[in-house]
Amino acid sequence: MSKLKILVAGDPVLRQKAQEVERMDKKTLRLLDDMAETMYAANGVGLAAPQIGVLKRIVVIDVGEGLIELINPVITYREGSAVGPEGCLSVPDYEGEVERAEIVHCEYYDRKGRKILIKADGLLAVCIQHELDHLDGVLFIDKAKVLMPKDFDGEQ
Ligand code: NI
Repeated sequence: MSKLKILVAGDPVLRQKAQEVERMDKKTLRLLDDMAETMYAANGVGLAAPQIGVLKRIVVIDVGEGLIELINPVITYREGSAVGPEGCLSVPDYEGEVERAEIVHCEYYDRKGRKILIKADGLLAVCIQHELDHLDGVLFIDKAKVLMPKDFDGEQ
């Protein structure tokens, strides 16, 4: 496994639409491993492939409940709305308040090609919506109702 460089806002790759994965091959499996390593090394809870310069619809998430690898994920159901804090490994200097659905259902394929449906709420629901936005070139700063520098109040 190897740690990859995370692109930061301003890089045009982050604004492009990612393509579906058509088959699981060794390259895709290695990418999943590298993405997880990169996310953990950066203390992130989620990472989308465009953030490391790969325009594929692949996301890794770990909100403290174990690693989830999502290939070609699609949100099939949304319910409610809530505003909460968000940050992003590609926007290291800012945090913001973003409105998201409270509950989402997400269909995706795992690394073995099995189709999975998860029903998520809380941080996992927010994370799924944030990471799937990356696959369409959308960053949380586009949606933030409030955006502020991380050292705004002199604290970290
Ligand atoms: Ni992000």
